[in-house]
Amino acid sequence: MAYENLIVEKRGPVVRITVNRPEKMNALNVRTREELLAAFEEIGADREIRVVVITGAGDKAFIAGADISEFSGNTVLEQREIMHRSRAFDAMEDCPKPVIAMINGYALGGGCELAMACDIRIASSKAKFGQPEVKLGLIPGGGGTQRLPRLIGESKAMELILTGDMITAEDALRIGLLNQVVAPESLEATTMELANRIAGMSPVALAMAKKAVKNAARMNLATGLEAESDLFALCFASEDKEEGVRAFLEKRKPDFKGK
Ligand code: COA
Repeated sequence: MAYENLIVEKRGPVVRITVNRPEKMNALNVRTREELLAAFEEIGADREIRVVVITGAGDKAFIAGADISEFSGNTVLEQREIMHRSRAFDAMEDCPKPVIAMINGYALGGGCELAMACDIRIASSKAKFGQPEVKLGLIPGGGGTQRLPRLIGESKAMELILTGDMITAEDALRIGLLNQVVAPESLEATTMELANRIAGMSPVALAMAKKAVKNAARMNLATGLEAESDLFALCFASEDKEEGVRAFLEKRKPDFKGK
């Protein structure tokens, strides 16, 4: 697919996706969500790519939510069809590769929800977070009502969703929405260092680990523990597991091939 609103760049084993509508604060219109869906399909099938980093263009916004200009005039059925068609955030969550959000500015509404669908979130100290949908007479529709309470607990999630208030990156870190906050000038280096470090692990193990952790929010404890045992055992089918164990015993760095 030829992308109009995304920049997709491969940097060794890391692919970087930039949502590129800076004049609209990188708001997610339908086209951009469809492009994200297509990009994650391609990334899932590309063996060279081991880690995904997603960010926003410019220095103001990560993503300032869904494109509000597309909200007027739709019938209920049209809106429902749009929401079911472009489930890009679910594709990110289901992507077998780790996805890191590099949050350079406003992460509001769908932007905050997209970040929550990522596996790790690193933000600039300038970034701001919120679910302001209630101010538009709406509710979060990109997973916010489900992923936010799972990440930060119902109490804080309820407060953010019912007030629509914006919070700082430091506050987002404190309540568990973020993994790390760094100075704006360190955001790229910190994120790429982490992405490359993770890219050095076995892609098979990364995929199994991501699936097992995601199961925690999708299964009850007994089923999740059973699935974890199965995924652990499945790692024994990989050459990477042999390489990892042998490298440890031979006191050398493993060379994982993703097989
Ligand atoms: N959808 C569509 N356009 C958006 C947008 C969105 N979610 N967020 C920002 N824009 C557009 C603005 O309309 C403006 O376009 P214009 O220059 O054609 O008028 C442009 O991006 C710049 O935004 P502006 O509001 O002028 O910048 P700001 O620095 O004053 O404020 C925000 C930045 C992010 C605080 C503010 O734009 C905002 O509140 N956006 C909406 C956030 C939101 O409610 N998201 C949830 C949607 S469900």
